[in-house]
Amino acid sequence: MTENTRTPILAANWKMYKTSAEAGEFLRTLLGMIGGVEQRQVVIAPAFTALAAAASELEGQDLVTLAAQNMYFEAEGAFTGEISARMLQEFGVRWVILGHSERRHIFGEGNKLIGRKVKAALAAGLIPILCIGETLSEREQGNTLKVLEGQLEAGFSGVDSGDASGMVVAYEPVWAIGTGVTATPEQAQEAHGHVRDWLKKRYASDVAERIRILYGGSVKPGNVDQLMALPDVDGALVGGASLEPESFARIVQCETGRI
Ligand code: PGA
Repeated sequence: MTENTRTPILAANWKMYKTSAEAGEFLRTLLGMIGGVEQRQVVIAPAFTALAAAASELEGQDLVTLAAQNMYFEAEGAFTGEISARMLQEFGVRWVILGHSERRHIFGEGNKLIGRKVKAALAAGLIPILCIGETLSEREQGNTLKVLEGQLEAGFSGVDSGDASGMVVAYEPVWAIGTGVTATPEQAQEAHGHVRDWLKKRYASDVAERIRILYGGSVKPGNVDQLMALPDVDGALVGGASLEPESFARIVQCETGRI
């Protein structure tokens, strides 16, 4: 078995929460709480409007970096309400969450659009965090792995191994997002293992071994250690429990079993 050298990522998805002032206050408190943390990457995805305040709060340190929650694939143009990679990079954004379940299910984003966004992000030098996950009815019908494969196929379409190895996948079962119901360790490892196997077939083993696969869906201080102990779980994408500095700091300080 290849040695696992993937640095864990603990990512906060703030969704449509926090003004600039609230984001600044949160980050000041968080940085004070996680000062000594090593060997992991901490990522915060604020609302677009809070990026400037967040960026200025994060200056002078490199433990915590910024993600955007979405972006459009065009560089500029008549696309009312959209935002481009270059606009995000102005604030030092390094990562972008793409294909989040809420984008797919509330805003109707499909696999094809998400694939175009992934390619645009990579071309601009942003790291995509590609979200995938099945709904409850897809799981109940036994279609989980098939759904994940379709989402991976579209998300990685036209992406070469060089770019793929730097990408991040977030497995977020839709039925676990914001519900308080977390996937069991067995369910999470099964899905993550399947994603890793798919990546091995699509690229090569060494590429697949480098790609970080995060789990998302009701991650909390009380369940993060158990999830992080799974061999193919390389981090967490956290919604609700990332909104309070105390609870997100505990998640950042999780036992990764890799140090
Ligand atoms: P949750 O959200 O932690 O509130 O379930 C996770 C996500 O949507 O990324």
